[in-house]
Amino acid sequence: MAFLPGKVAPDYLDGVEKLGLNAAKTPQVRDIDARLHALTGAGAHGVPAIIPPSQFFDLLAQRKFPVATFLRRREHMDYIEEPDLFHEVFGHCPLLTNAAYVDFIAGFGQKALAMDKADRWFIFRLFWFTVEFGMIRTDDGLRAYGAGIVSSPAEAAHALSGDALMQDFDLLTVFRTPYRIDIVQPTYFVIDGFDQLAGLLDNDFAAVIAQARAMGDLPALFEGKKSV
Ligand SMILES: [Fe+2]
Repeated sequence: MAFLPGKVAPDYLDGVEKLGLNAAKTPQVRDIDARLHALTGAGAHGVPAIIPPSQFFDLLAQRKFPVATFLRRREHMDYIEEPDLFHEVFGHCPLLTNAAYVDFIAGFGQKALAMDKADRWFIFRLFWFTVEFGMIRTDDGLRAYGAGIVSSPAEAAHALSGDALMQDFDLLTVFRTPYRIDIVQPTYFVIDGFDQLAGLLDNDFAAVIAQARAMGDLPALFEGKKSV
């Protein structure tokens, strides 16, 4: 928390406060769930670990964020590839206090459920470059809102260092951008506000994905094999 001011979206920090997260107490999923429900109608749903995509999307469509309930070891504090309670609660839940963000999450889940399974690669990329690694423009400069940044000191330092490529958010470009899950990200996409995320749902995803497939992936900005 001491590291985050000036690096993360003010809405995120507000959310930490609204949820009553603090260093003295391990949060209980049922408490977070109740607070979210009262604030935005969202919720947190405890699951043991990673769940199948259909179940994941189904929960999101119901405005319930799946929260893995195992906890990483101290030596993995900086980053683990598989999401744990810290990443889920500290990374994801604060922004679920923002109504426009919740609308995006729910609409994303609904669209993903309706989509052909062969198109899921593309929708994973959208999730990755927004919910996990999104950046936002504020009056005070660029800030992080993605859970993978706010829950990782190394990623947050990198994202704000000026070394990473910042691109204005564009749905077609995001659908064409491969990523790796095991490195700090070489590029991030910047939104102007959470209303922009909710507004993305007005797009015909199938049409944009067809265009992305026809144009092919953009060249990777990393060495090695893409994860998605
Ligand atoms: Fe996550």
